[in-house]
Amino acid sequence: MIAAVDYEEAVEIQQLRLGVWKRLWRYTKPYRKDVVLLVLCGVSVALSGIATPLVEGMAIDDVAANGLDARFTLYAVLYFILVASAAIGIWAFIWLAGKIRTHVAHDIRRDGFDTLQRLPFAFFDQRPVGWLMARMTSDCERLSNILAWGVLDLAWGTTKLVAITITMLIINWKLAMAVLVVLPFLFWVSALFRRRILKTAREVRKTNSRITASYNECITGVRTTKTFRREQQNLGEFGGLSTEMYGSSVRNAVLSALYLPIVLTIGSVATAGALVWGGYDVRAGGITIGTLVVFLRYAQQFFEPIQELAHWFAEMQMAQASAERILDLIDTEPAIRDNEAVQQRMAAHVPQPGLAPDGYPNRLGKIEFRDIGFSYDTGGPILESFNLSVEPGTSVALVGATGGGKSTIVNLLCRFYEPTAGGLYLDGVEYRERSLEWLHSQLGVVLQQPHLFSGTLRDNIRYGRLDATDEEVTEAARLAGAVEFIEALKKGFDTQVGEGGVRLSTGQKQLLSFARAILARPQLLIMDEATSSVDTETEAKIQAGVERLLEDRTSFVIAHRLSTIRSADRILVIDRGKIVEQGDHRSLMAQRGRYWRLYTDQSLRDVTKGQGVWRDRRTEIE
Ligand SMILES: Nc1ncnc2c1ncn2[C@@H]1O[C@H](COP(=O)(O)OP(=O)(O)OP(=O)(O)O)[C@@H](O)[C@H]1O
Ligand SMILES: [Mg+2]
Repeated sequence: MIAAVDYEEAVEIQQLRLGVWKRLWRYTKPYRKDVVLLVLCGVSVALSGIATPLVEGMAIDDVAANGLDARFTLYAVLYFILVASAAIGIWAFIWLAGKIRTHVAHDIRRDGFDTLQRLPFAFFDQRPVGWLMARMTSDCERLSNILAWGVLDLAWGTTKLVAITITMLIINWKLAMAVLVVLPFLFWVSALFRRRILKTAREVRKTNSRITASYNECITGVRTTKTFRREQQNLGEFGGLSTEMYGSSVRNAVLSALYLPIVLTIGSVATAGALVWGGYDVRAGGITIGTLVVFLRYAQQFFEPIQELAHWFAEMQMAQASAERILDLIDTEPAIRDNEAVQQRMAAHVPQPGLAPDGYPNRLGKIEFRDIGFSYDTGGPILESFNLSVEPGTSVALVGATGGGKSTIVNLLCRFYEPTAGGLYLDGVEYRERSLEWLHSQLGVVLQQPHLFSGTLRDNIRYGRLDATDEEVTEAARLAGAVEFIEALKKGFDTQVGEGGVRLSTGQKQLLSFARAILARPQLLIMDEATSSVDTETEAKIQAGVERLLEDRTSFVIAHRLSTIRSADRILVIDRGKIVEQGDHRSLMAQRGRYWRLYTDQSLRDVTKGQGVWRDRRTEIE
């Protein structure tokens, strides 16, 4: 199926809202000097362009009056100066605009990146990755272009229009009026066409990115497609996209082809008007041939700045939505962050042994969920008056049906989400009174779908604690049971992973992210289905390592494979956001309740699947 991936290009045309652009304009502030230079370049290039016809006019009149005695050298020198200054101006503005554009794009991206890193998970629940990427790449590109090149063209275009108008009025106001009548009309037609052309161009780009996206899906999902024999249907959907692309491409080509001749015709009407009227005047001796030439040249030159101004005006109208989206993103205040009091305490902090930067003891202590209620932004309540108290050093296992709320409970504990009612207390202090950074530095989290960054295996493990030595990295890998497979690789710890690197199995990735967590030496270790893709034998080895490591630390482990959590101090059976049973393995088995049923079911399944030695299993069950 071709998903409607939301990499969308904005095609809507909006009223210009100056506030948005003013706010964006602030991004050029650090480069004000360059912007001023850029504007000056634009103005000087425009002025030299206007002066050139004047020199030509003077030369023609001089030759007409004095024949070969005319001052040819003077005109040659003047002409050269004008052309040279225009060339230098053009070189300078290309350089300056490029520089400003790059800096501004960098600054906007940096702000966006910064915000994205600080935003809580809830933000990402509702926005697809593709959408966010498009904001930070194509939107950002478009806006920085408008800021740099738009300003240049605005300076150049307005100077040109104003200067030509004034010069014409000074030389001969009657003739000037004849040329200027077409001006509003030219503006109107230009604006109309520019907008339409841009709109169809956007449609082409939009369809194009959907085509790219469907190629992407086709390639990445090729296995699923083949197993479900969906090739024909996919091809049909792709055909639809392709036809759409054809339609908007043709519309774009037709409009572009029409635009230039129409504008040129209007321009020619002005030129012709000037020629006819001016011609009579020349005959009557009212003006010289030189003046007429100047007018003709100006009439032709009008067209370019109008076209450019119309282009940027349309571009800004179209980019309005991009601008708003980017600013919205950058201005989003993270919903989960340190409150005022914590920030003040952090600022006033003087390092003391045993104290965290937020002024409270560094140790994590007892963890208490007190009457916690929680619901995600998009749904009904998941937890209601949830209570749980965990002494430091306890290993807690959460088990139970899919969708029961196990991950939600640990997400709250990590403060990836905050409770909507009640409070979570660490050593008697509500965790929103503590610093977020401190809490996260005490956590080691291992998830079911571990993420590896591009880099070597060693870098990936060291992500847990950047100042760890190579020996510590190796030791962590050993405790995590990852050493065997790493050393079997040709380059060992220096093997590259990620895009273009070696492919690891999910189980191997889990072992690596496990080593990463071990290296961080957290006070609280959280594992959400962390070893689900590791074989039972490796898992047993990991557990031995972890048990030693976590002797005095608190851990929360979620596992579907119950054999792995048997040794936990406390096992909680979670169902629909409630603890329905708790105790250690032995007592829960003795109760013959939910846990017993789950456990025996699973063990029997394992036996029938031929996993494990059934004789052992049966004695365990009984
Ligand atoms: N990001 C989210 N946004 C909205 N609802 C969510 C989100 N994550 C989970 N839920 C909902 O919350 C409920 C509990 O989900 P949770 O992930 O905590 O279950 P779980 O016990 O971890 O399940 P599993 O064993 O399958 O991992 C589910 O009904 C789920 O649909
Ligand atoms: Mg889960």
